[in-house]
Amino acid sequence: MIEVKNLHRHFGGFRAVDGATLEIETGSITGLVGPNGAGKTTLFNVVAGVLAPTSGQVLMAGEDITGLPPHTLFHKGLLRTFQIAHEFSSMSCRENLMMVPGGQTGETLWNTWFGRKRIADEERALRAKADEVLEFLTIEHLADHKAGQVSGGQKKLLELGRTMMVDARIVFLDEVGAGVNRTLLNTIGDAIIRLNKERGYTFCMIEHDMDFIGRLCDPVIVMAEGKVLAKGTIDEIKADERVIEAYLGTGLKNKDAVG
Ligand SMILES: Nc1ncnc2c1ncn2[C@@H]1O[C@H](COP(=O)(O)OP(=O)(O)OP(=O)(O)O)[C@@H](O)[C@H]1O
Ligand SMILES: [Mg+2]
Repeated sequence: MIEVKNLHRHFGGFRAVDGATLEIETGSITGLVGPNGAGKTTLFNVVAGVLAPTSGQVLMAGEDITGLPPHTLFHKGLLRTFQIAHEFSSMSCRENLMMVPGGQTGETLWNTWFGRKRIADEERALRAKADEVLEFLTIEHLADHKAGQVSGGQKKLLELGRTMMVDARIVFLDEVGAGVNRTLLNTIGDAIIRLNKERGYTFCMIEHDMDFIGRLCDPVIVMAEGKVLAKGTIDEIKADERVIEAYLGTGLKNKDAVG
């Protein structure tokens, strides 16, 4: 589905992504792990069109998508979840979902005057779709709650729900489980597995929780210092000397920084 070839993203003289090459197979839930500062989020941002690469290439199903803006990638079915923006926090969970699909008929003045019926039909369809998504995520009881007032984990589910309002093909999740309690983490995990199995979504997810990664992801890719260090099953990764060293290395560095 996705091929990243010799990707670089530098910030001044600093090489946050330093020649990363990797593949995300269609139909997989691929994990992306690595010590803090390994360049995982930067890589995501480049692939999702949020940051321009310094050099290198990104292909989606064989097509060169390097440097395309997020909205173009969105229409190709490549999505990256974002935190619910501050200005949407006073809207209900349902309304947050209904906001997602672009190019709605109601947006132009012409259509406001001449397409009232069509707008009403579309809004009804959108609302039904949003309710279906809330039910899939087992948060239908939050439909009318303000998005800013639900728990952190429920917000993460809502962010995942936003990818279900369009026909996503690949979804990038950056630490979707961070700071989420066990019960909700399981709900998020179940939703990801069902979206993968039942709707054919491919996922690439950054996560620090190895149990969560182990439950969901195969394969797992390890990044360190801007490069791909290893790829394999969770057990292969955990037993890999280079991976252990990379984690220990930053552990020691952190200790030095603190001490
Ligand atoms: N906009 C920026 N300007 C300068 N340096 C940056 C910028 N964004 C990231 N970096 C640096 O690039 C490196 C990689 O950061 P990145 O956020 O990609 O790491 P990460 O693997 O996602 O880490 P974490 O696990 O802590 O989220 C870090 O050293 C970071 O400080
Ligand atoms: Mg990160």
